[in-house]
Amino acid sequence: MESIYLDHAATTPVHPKVIEAMLPVTQEVYGNPSSVHQFGRKARRILDQARRTAAKSIGANEKEIVFTSGGTEADNLAIIGTAMANKEKGKHIITTNVEHHATLHAAEYLESTGFEVTYLPVDETGSVRVQDVKEALREDTILVSIMMVNNETGIMQPIEEVADLLKDHQAAFHSDIVQAYGLIEIDVQELAVDLLAVSGHKINGPKGVGFLYVREGTTLASLQHGGEQERKRRAGTENVPAVKGMEEAIMIILENRDAYREKYRSFKEQFLNTLTEESVNYTVNGSEDKCMESIVNISFPGTNVETMLTNFDLSGVAASSGSACTAGSVEPSHVLSAMYGKGDARTVNSIRFSFGLANTEENVKEAARKVSQIVHRLSE
Ligand SMILES: Cc1ncc(COP(=O)(O)O)c(C=O)c1O
Repeated sequence: MESIYLDHAATTPVHPKVIEAMLPVTQEVYGNPSSVHQFGRKARRILDQARRTAAKSIGANEKEIVFTSGGTEADNLAIIGTAMANKEKGKHIITTNVEHHATLHAAEYLESTGFEVTYLPVDETGSVRVQDVKEALREDTILVSIMMVNNETGIMQPIEEVADLLKDHQAAFHSDIVQAYGLIEIDVQELAVDLLAVSGHKINGPKGVGFLYVREGTTLASLQHGGEQERKRRAGTENVPAVKGMEEAIMIILENRDAYREKYRSFKEQFLNTLTEESVNYTVNGSEDKCMESIVNISFPGTNVETMLTNFDLSGVAASSGSACTAGSVEPSHVLSAMYGKGDARTVNSIRFSFGLANTEENVKEAARKVSQIVHRLSE
């Protein structure tokens, strides 16, 4: 039995072209990019080229790209780095209740050091209201951090409107675009953001690599102390093969983004249609018209996340819940709790299915049939 992977929002399979691009760099280009000799210069050229590609992918300047060890570090650098560099201007930060833990836990850390954080609510559709951002803004707000696409629900937030709102405010605007970047075209010449976090492994690139876009003029304190890499914004020798792999992954998405979007839209439709054909009782969490093509979060009344995930896995379907798994039991999802209220049944009976390169029309339909059988059995 071949297992079917429907968990691309957790991580994606590495594209064969990415492996092909990384292999010779891993084997041959072992110089330290900070070394002045030819071995170092060769590695430096690879980094420079990848930096240009990353910058071009969002309409940025290469000096505005900081390579990191992934999305988590990019979010931490954006949030803690901005807070530390701007604390003389104020100590107030705004974010939302539905951010990834890379943002939420960074914000909580800042609270423990004396910053004040406003966590904005979302409505039942999963969206933040721009009016709420406006009302939460204060003279001493130094940072607003709102993700572009939620990793559990796929819901897109009104980033453009928030960016416009902040144009005349001192606050820096950071957006975690980890889930968005692979499918949504982003141009920092048009979108008034100051910081953007990207992760390599969500776009069929390697794990442990990502980048932070830092608009020129944005002040940022470095979190790591060491060498002067990445224009003193991120100390530590760069992971050259991984950066090369991420560059290849970026080039692939730039060429295929629209086609992927269309493909995943159709996968999602087929998945939901099959559940309907099989008479499964389900509802989709969040507003469908604000949801990204690759993710669907579904509530199955009368069931429970833990039992479902175990049964799906046994039948060869890999999906996940956004909920954290602590000591063998699944905690209710913080995102669904923010949408529906703590204690709502949907916070413990919902599963995230996410589509990507490991899918075909056939395996999506087959997975939906298996899911239907299990849900019928469990909700009897
Ligand atoms: C929205 C979002 N932000 C940040 C991250 C963290 O990225 P990484 O795994 O590269 O640290 C993830 C990964 O799950 C994510 O989905």
